[in-house]
Amino acid sequence: MDKIKITGGAKLAGSVEVSGAKNAALPILFSGLLTEKKSTYRRIPDLQDIKTTAHLLEQMGATVERSGSELSMTVPSQALKEAPYDLVRKMRASVLVLGPLLARFGEAKVSLPGGCAIGARPINFHLTALEKLGATIELTEGYVIARAKRLKGNRVVFDFPSVGATENLLMAATLAEGETLLENCAREPEIIDLANALRSMGAEIEGDGTEIIRIQGKTSLNGANHEVIGDRIEAGTFLAATMATGGQVLVRGIQPIFLDSVLEKMSEAGAEITRETNAIGIKMSGRPRGIDFKTLPFPGFPTDMQAQLMAALVVADGSSLITETIFENRFMHVPELSRLGADLTIRGNTVLVRGKKELVGAPLMATDLRASASLVIGGLVARGETTVSRIYHLDRGYEKMEAKLKSLGAQIERVSDGE
Ligand code: EPZ
Repeated sequence: MDKIKITGGAKLAGSVEVSGAKNAALPILFSGLLTEKKSTYRRIPDLQDIKTTAHLLEQMGATVERSGSELSMTVPSQALKEAPYDLVRKMRASVLVLGPLLARFGEAKVSLPGGCAIGARPINFHLTALEKLGATIELTEGYVIARAKRLKGNRVVFDFPSVGATENLLMAATLAEGETLLENCAREPEIIDLANALRSMGAEIEGDGTEIIRIQGKTSLNGANHEVIGDRIEAGTFLAATMATGGQVLVRGIQPIFLDSVLEKMSEAGAEITRETNAIGIKMSGRPRGIDFKTLPFPGFPTDMQAQLMAALVVADGSSLITETIFENRFMHVPELSRLGADLTIRGNTVLVRGKKELVGAPLMATDLRASASLVIGGLVARGETTVSRIYHLDRGYEKMEAKLKSLGAQIERVSDGE
């Protein structure tokens, strides 16, 4: 198994391009299940989660072809309508096959995902909402079996603006009979990107990016032709890394508006941020200042950036109070960052960070995707050598992270565990 070895202390400088957004690409690839026509997607990142998705689609009978960052797929009408446990277990986003399969084929069998490292993560909002569109849902032997001759448009009010539930219902409603009104929807940029991909298939959708989405169902959809947006979390990770080490970096291929809440907090902590048309610049001189922040649904501060900004704040001048409101168990990076000498205290869903002038390198273990990124940031500032093991977590969601950081001047390399 690979590890990442970092010698800390180098300031980051230069420019780096983000890949396509993982969390847009995953639902968008699953939306290709809605049609028998060939769909083509561009700017698909080369990540483990994308490989798992392609594998799942192929198991269902789809033909998937990949050339560089372009991926095309065709899903025949005799496809297998099932997502088995071994794949859903590896990648929870597999539950996003539920809406498209049910809408197109009238049935879907999907393994219940179970809990994961960052929390319980049930799918009750997805299921209740699909029932509103006329689906019958049966839970048996660890699987959800959903059936509906044809889904019927209806009004659905989500209890919470869940990203996945909004995506599943948005996809399902494109083939439902009549109009569907989704209320209290997630407003993340990835939802808008999914709606754009669906519109390229002929779907009629209004209001994505707001709390209320209106969909007029069609009897069939065409193949998609769509380019995925840039990854705002990858961009935010490079910015947080620069905040921690100091230096000056331009992150290209990202619309600043997608990261507004993060950029505001980074400015508050003393970073000089410049917003360009499709790029964000950061200049960091000296240590960051301590700041408080709280994760919230978009446009609030993203939970997927909590660990990385915490890693930058462990070397701040002053204290920070960080509150996680989206997931109940998303502080697994805290004990690992403490191994570098960070002064962190967890109280319920809050972490008190008392900034330290210096961290010292240590062997660390990654526990989930964003936690892994925060440990890499910790390693970049810590004096001496840090190794991060179990980096398959990192490979799920960051394309060539160590190569990109190296191009910015970081002393970082991937080594095999045997070394
Ligand atoms: C998406 O997960 C992202 N994943 C996550 O990215 C991200 O952290 C999360 O949204 C929040 O922004 C993808 O886009 C593939 P939710 P999702 O449904 O859709 C609870 C990363 O690192 N909930 O908005 O699963 C749930 O338990 C990750 O890239 C229910 O209770 O998130 C959580 O506490 C990991 N019942 C909260 O809502 C439900 O039916 C938000 O979940 C659904 C969700």
